[in-house]
Amino acid sequence: MKIGICSDHAGFQYKSSLVPFLQKKGIEVHDFGTDSEVSMDYADVAHPLACALENGTVDLGIALCGTGNGMAITLNHHRGIRAGLAWSSEIGRLVKAHNNANVLVLPARFISLAAAKRIISTWLETSFEGGRHQRRIEKIPVQ
Ligand code: RB5
Repeated sequence: MKIGICSDHAGFQYKSSLVPFLQKKGIEVHDFGTDSEVSMDYADVAHPLACALENGTVDLGIALCGTGNGMAITLNHHRGIRAGLAWSSEIGRLVKAHNNANVLVLPARFISLAAAKRIISTWLETSFEGGRHQRRIEKIPVQ
């Protein structure tokens, strides 16, 4: 399992803790930055993560910014991406089970690090339910 991770400055501290957290689960982590708490623009790391997912370099992605919205909005411009924002474990479960999100987006300024870890674990352990949800996600792409 290969996971790409990225954050802006608002998510940098959490990302620094989440990389070893994921590695301890046996996951190969590709870190797309940013590399400090210096203010930067989330799109500069979100697009490279999305491209890596689209070309198969990584299997899933995790993205963090202050609210999560900048990352989610940017990532969802890519045809191969379904980025879902989650702020609780139950939403982390549903965003995989119902939406098959291939990028989990976390609002670093609004959840604890412990919550971020719980949400990630739940998202990773959950399977897409398919069925009516498959039909629904197939209607998402703009022709
Ligand atoms: C950075 O201040 C903040 O705007 C960013 O992390 C994110 O919340 C944007 O959506």
